Amino acid sequence: MNTPTNVFEHIISLSKRRGFIFQSSEIYGGLAATYDYGPLGVELKRNVMNRWWNAMVRQHDNIEGIDAAILMHATVWKASGHVDAFNDPLIDDRASKRRYRADQLIENHMAKLEKDGKTEHLAEVNTRFVAALNAETDEAVCKGLYDIIMEEKIKAPDSGAFDWTEVRQFNLMFSTYSGPVADADAKIYLRPETAQGIFVNFHNVRETARQQIPFGIAQIGKAFRNEIVARQFIFRMREFEQMEMQYFLKPGAQLEAYEEWRAKRLQWHLDNGIREEKLRWHVHEKLAHYADAAVDIQYEFPFGWSEVEGIHSRTDYDLRRHQEFSGKNMHYSDTQSGEKYLPYVVETSTGLDRNVLMLLCEAYRSEKLENGETRDVLKFHPRIAPITVAVLPLVKKDGMPETAHSIEAELRDFFNVFYDEKGAIGRRYRRMDEVGTPYCLTIDGQTLEDGTVTIRDRDTMQQDRIHRHHVLNYLKNKIQQWKSTTN
Ligand code: GAP
Repeated sequence: MNTPTNVFEHIISLSKRRGFIFQSSEIYGGLAATYDYGPLGVELKRNVMNRWWNAMVRQHDNIEGIDAAILMHATVWKASGHVDAFNDPLIDDRASKRRYRADQLIENHMAKLEKDGKTEHLAEVNTRFVAALNAETDEAVCKGLYDIIMEEKIKAPDSGAFDWTEVRQFNLMFSTYSGPVADADAKIYLRPETAQGIFVNFHNVRETARQQIPFGIAQIGKAFRNEIVARQFIFRMREFEQMEMQYFLKPGAQLEAYEEWRAKRLQWHLDNGIREEKLRWHVHEKLAHYADAAVDIQYEFPFGWSEVEGIHSRTDYDLRRHQEFSGKNMHYSDTQSGEKYLPYVVETSTGLDRNVLMLLCEAYRSEKLENGETRDVLKFHPRIAPITVAVLPLVKKDGMPETAHSIEAELRDFFNVFYDEKGAIGRRYRRMDEVGTPYCLTIDGQTLEDGTVTIRDRDTMQQDRIHRHHVLNYLKNKIQQWKSTTN
């Protein structure tokens, strides 16, 4: 039976088997919560990042790109609040010695109450939960969460025990030392988000790119978090990649921009082939103290609804803090009105790897065919698929490979093309289905007589026969018109 857990396990095993994603340092037993992208995974990931870059930077003349360093001055993270407040509340199960995030234990408990239809009780727990998270001090947050776990008698998920330690806060930043001396002055951090590289470069970019407010700065890059509960494959990793954009604007204009970016970001995911019914909004009940609005885009993963992107209206918090800690003036001067102000910021932030996982989950189907066989297929949008077109000579003789190579060469300027001449054609089609190649072009005996080839569509498995000179336009049209099927 295809239970959601089952489906997720299939996706993980297919990802490994077909060269999308491997465990990091696998031959040494693996490093937890870190992964490597294989030949097909890296193509998929690059397609996603190129589409994001194109949609955000190239399609907006008031958005500039940067690529800031991972290592930054240690004070950046004091100013941003990460040194003091980038914490997760942790609790240990004494029986199994396993460590959990206290807030996640409560959230899972609430999801169960919801599933069991215990709505009144759920509302009561939720009120206490929100109050606990909003408490003034770290100690009060920990105590509030601990009390809920005790009162609700929440058991450890793995051991089933009810033998908890206190809840305490744990900082998620990785630290290291810069230079030869490992003393406190040399301590620096691996960035836990890319955003701060943008804030500290606000004036550099504005001046050199001659931008005026409103304008944005976008970046794709690695971020590192020492996540405690790092599970669910590439969903939550310790080394991952973010795609972030900070949009600087005049105070007062933020809510309009926030709505605008909500709409644009949702549309981007739909354009990547994610079905509308698999996405939903999650409005933050608990706002960070510097935010005046925040929402997540959630996707329905096989393990449940979870965040893929955050859109946050962050006021002038970050620029104000950097001004305070660096002593540099971060104000913007409006040359037309003469006004001077600290810009407000609307941020869009999404995880590249989490997008890859969402696209894998969205694309994966296990289909029963008319002949009784089952086929595993990844129904990626053709613009996202790692390979766009496979060129397959029916047999490895009679001049078919030569003709196939010449067609392959014509298509390489436009698409990522894969050439394969080995094995039965049916098996080659199946392999291409499994890695999500939308089109297979077959060169057969008739090609040599009249120049026609067959093009097989991955989703319908129908084949069209067309002249080789029409292949490029045929594929471009097909890609333009591609729609996700709901099955
Ligand atoms: N600058 C804002 C910021 O970093 P966030 O909600 O902490 O906000 C943004 O992270 C996005 O980064 C998330 O929506 C998620 O897609 C991705 N992300 C965060 N932590 C991650 C992790 N440990 N592994 C993979 N992706 C992660």
